[in-house]
Amino acid sequence: MKEQISSLKEKFIKALGAATTNYQLEEVRITYLGRKGHIATLMDTLKTLGLEEKKEYGPLLNELKQHIQDQFNAKKHQITVQQQSHAQALKQFFDVTAYIPEADTGSLHPMTQVLHHVQDIFLSMGYEIADGPEVETEYYNFEALNIAKDHPAREMWDTLWLDIPSLLLRTHTSPVQVRALEKKQLPLALVAPGRCYRHEATDASHDFVFMQVEGLLVDKQINLGHLLATIKSFMQTFFEKEKLDIRIRPSYFPFVKPGIEIDIECPFCNHGCSVCKETEWIEACGAGLVHPNVLEFSGIDAKEQTGFAFGFGLTRLAMLKFGINDIRLLHSGNIEFLKQF
Ligand code: FA5
Repeated sequence: MKEQISSLKEKFIKALGAATTNYQLEEVRITYLGRKGHIATLMDTLKTLGLEEKKEYGPLLNELKQHIQDQFNAKKHQITVQQQSHAQALKQFFDVTAYIPEADTGSLHPMTQVLHHVQDIFLSMGYEIADGPEVETEYYNFEALNIAKDHPAREMWDTLWLDIPSLLLRTHTSPVQVRALEKKQLPLALVAPGRCYRHEATDASHDFVFMQVEGLLVDKQINLGHLLATIKSFMQTFFEKEKLDIRIRPSYFPFVKPGIEIDIECPFCNHGCSVCKETEWIEACGAGLVHPNVLEFSGIDAKEQTGFAFGFGLTRLAMLKFGINDIRLLHSGNIEFLKQF
């Protein structure tokens, strides 16, 4: 028994010396002081011994148990102090600048990118940027554009009327033409990008709110050739392509004469799809020579001055430029979609 006690003491001292963490220390405690540990086992053995032996070894065993408990407490205190000073040291030397969180950098919305690009092109061609209200009067949206109250052409645009009489959400950017002409600072060359609203069902190429860019140039002796050259030059720069797959069709808008429309070959299909509505062409722009009535309405002598105007679907240009096959994605706020630009 005596040997067992002294051998246990030696083993314990070694085990305690090897323990450096709280976890290892706890293992030592369970091995020696636990309910089924070495001390408890020796105590059980002691119970089986005779009275004389109990008298001899009992105090030795108690002494060992106390010794182990004291040593264990001292080591536990030592480890706690070490850990605290280590944590303190870490805190002291914590470099706040060392942690650089992974930054999610944003980018400009594809519509904004296209808007900037289009404005830059026209600015480089000597045009000014103009603006007009999105809540417009019936006068500027229709009447001053040669579309009288009961004119059937009003049906061309499904209008969102406000509760306030004669006010509407502009159906196109053409009212900016009239607002510019009223100032009568001729010659003039401007582009007016902005939102338009239409009360129509949406599909892959139509939205109820979309952007157009209006163009207006008024000077002496302006003709269709100037208009076509301007549009061609703009489109070549915008699409960065010398040869363009476009189609020019005669069309009707009450505020131009003659009127044309320009389509771009559908880049999304070979033989028709939902974007081009099976036509293989996407309508990009309405245009023409400013109708003399529009000039006269603003007090400009239409015999002296002539001009051209165009209205590009800016949202459609964004679709064509970036290969977006559904216009509704552009204001869906879908982050996965937007991350591509
Ligand atoms: C007009 O709005 C005329 N103001 C254009 C114009 C200006 C003609 C100056 C003559 C002189 P239109 O409704 O066709 O025309 O629209 C012009 C362009 O806007 C279309 O070619 C198309 O590219 C785009 N657009 C029209 N409706 C929508 C829609 N619902 N969603 C997206 N783009 C549209």
